[in-house]
Amino acid sequence: MEFQLVRMRQEHIPALSALEALCFSDPWSEDAFFMELDNPNARFMVAQTPDGLVLGYLGLHHVLDEGYIANIAVDPLFRRQGIASALLADAETFARAAGLSFLTLEVRQSNAGAQALYRNHGFLPVGVRKQYYRDPREDAILMTYQLKQKEEPV
Ligand SMILES: CC(C)(COP(=O)(O)OP(=O)(O)OC[C@H]1O[C@@H](n2cnc3c(N)ncnc32)[C@H](O)[C@@H]1OP(=O)(O)O)[C@@H](O)C(=O)NCCC(=O)NCCS
Repeated sequence: MEFQLVRMRQEHIPALSALEALCFSDPWSEDAFFMELDNPNARFMVAQTPDGLVLGYLGLHHVLDEGYIANIAVDPLFRRQGIASALLADAETFARAAGLSFLTLEVRQSNAGAQALYRNHGFLPVGVRKQYYRDPREDAILMTYQLKQKEEPV
C-alpha cells in the first residue's frame, strides 16, 4: 500500500475520530483532535494514501526537551505493512531535530503487539502505572526511548 506522511489538517479529523473509535475503548473525540491543530507543542502526523484515505496516525506532544507519544493507531485493514513503523521513524527524526532527550509513552500491559513495535524502535520498559486504563481496568507499561544520555546527578 502506497502511503505518505502529512501533518494533520482539519479535514482529517472525522476519519481520525472514526479510527479512534475502531481501535480504542476510550477514543479521542473530534474536539480533542481540533484542540491539537493550534497546539504549538503538538505534532500529529497522518499516514494517507495518495488520494487521501487515512490509514493511521501518530500524535506527539513535546515540552522543553521531553517528547510524549499520546497515541498511535493504524486501520485494522492496513496493519503489518509498516505504517506504524514509518510514523515512529518520523517521530524519531523530529525528536532528534528538535533536540528532545527522550520519547516516552504508555501502553496497555496486554498489548503485546504494540510493545513489540515499540521495542523494535528502541523503546524500553521503564515502569508501570498501576490501574492507568479504564474499560477494562489495566496497568500501563511506561516505555521510553532515550535519545540523549541522562545527565549524571551532581
Ligand atoms: C500497534 C499498531 C499501531 C501497529 O501498527 P502497524 O502499522 O500494524 O505496525 P507495523 O506494520 O509498522 O509493525 C512493525 C513491526 O512491529 C511489530 N508488530 C506490530 N504489530 C504487531 C502485533 N500485532 N503483534 C506482534 N508484533 C507486532 C512487528 O515486529 C512488526 O513487524 P513485522 O510485521 O515485520 O513482523 C496497530 O496494531 C494498532 O493500531 N493497534 C490498535 C491501537 C493500539 O494498540 N495502539 C497502541 C496504543 S499504545
